[in-house]
Amino acid sequence: MSFDDLDIVRTVADLRSRVAYWRAQGLAVAFVPTMGALHQGHLSLIRKGLEVADRVVASVFVNPTQFGPGEDFSRYPRQEATDVELLAGAGCALLFAPAAAEMYPQGFATTVSVAGVSEGLCGAVRPGHFAGVATVVTKLLLQCRPDVALFGEKDYQQLAVIRRLVTDLDISCRVLGVETLREPDGLAMSSRNAYLNAAERAIAPALHRALQEVAAGLVAGAAAEGLCAAATQALLEAGFLSVDYVAVRDAETLAAVAHLERPVRILAAARLGGARLIDNIGVAPP
Ligand code: PAJ
Repeated sequence: MSFDDLDIVRTVADLRSRVAYWRAQGLAVAFVPTMGALHQGHLSLIRKGLEVADRVVASVFVNPTQFGPGEDFSRYPRQEATDVELLAGAGCALLFAPAAAEMYPQGFATTVSVAGVSEGLCGAVRPGHFAGVATVVTKLLLQCRPDVALFGEKDYQQLAVIRRLVTDLDISCRVLGVETLREPDGLAMSSRNAYLNAAERAIAPALHRALQEVAAGLVAGAAAEGLCAAATQALLEAGFLSVDYVAVRDAETLAAVAHLERPVRILAAARLGGARLIDNIGVAPP
């Protein structure tokens, strides 16, 4: 297959007929939902999709319902022409790029809300965010009906929310989590890194370093609470404006954890300049 024959569809009907055509040929379809402003992290999901399926569909939709009032919906970077080039280069076969009215027609009144895993962490700081994510991802999965959908571990709580809703709503698609792609200095790749000026960009890798220090402390037997407090302090001293949370959670249930007794995830969110950065890493008992 040539890597430059990327097609763009903007309606659910066109998306469905393209995917149905592939399915009728016995081809497996992978799906990578995004909000665009694509970077290598997104493209790693496309490449993984090509390893597990015959065709990869991506979506680009800056979903208004997952942004709170005063958040960055209006200034979120939009760059479809560049995204199309990047997707084509990575081997994506189809881009679904709907307008807001295609996703949320007049009279739209349904919300998917996932209890438990949506609560706490980003759910506590961004009320309604995960309901917006869960609603749009449910719609996208039902519109595309892929064999497998790929999501980044970068948004670890989001991945947990999506796994839960796919199980609970009997959506017949496999959910694959993909490891976080980082810059050489450890900063997790993110469309929101574009908000950082040069001085802030130099401070940003402190977030990943703080997570690594919590991991080292847990492995050495220290309690999560003190380690998270120290990490919060270190982020503020490094130049972060505020810290939404540094937390140690069970890697599967996201329940709070005091010590390293089973696989855990260390998650953090903090504000730097005009950006809110999130990151997480996993650690298991030695
Ligand atoms: P977006 O932030 O564009 O991310 C799209 C996908 O790329 C998500 O699954 C995210 O976890 C993954 N991703 C982002 N940065 C990554 C990195 N550095 N390494 C690996 N994967 C990375 O997440 C969303 O969009 C939206 O909430 C969406 C699921 C599309 C619903 O609107």
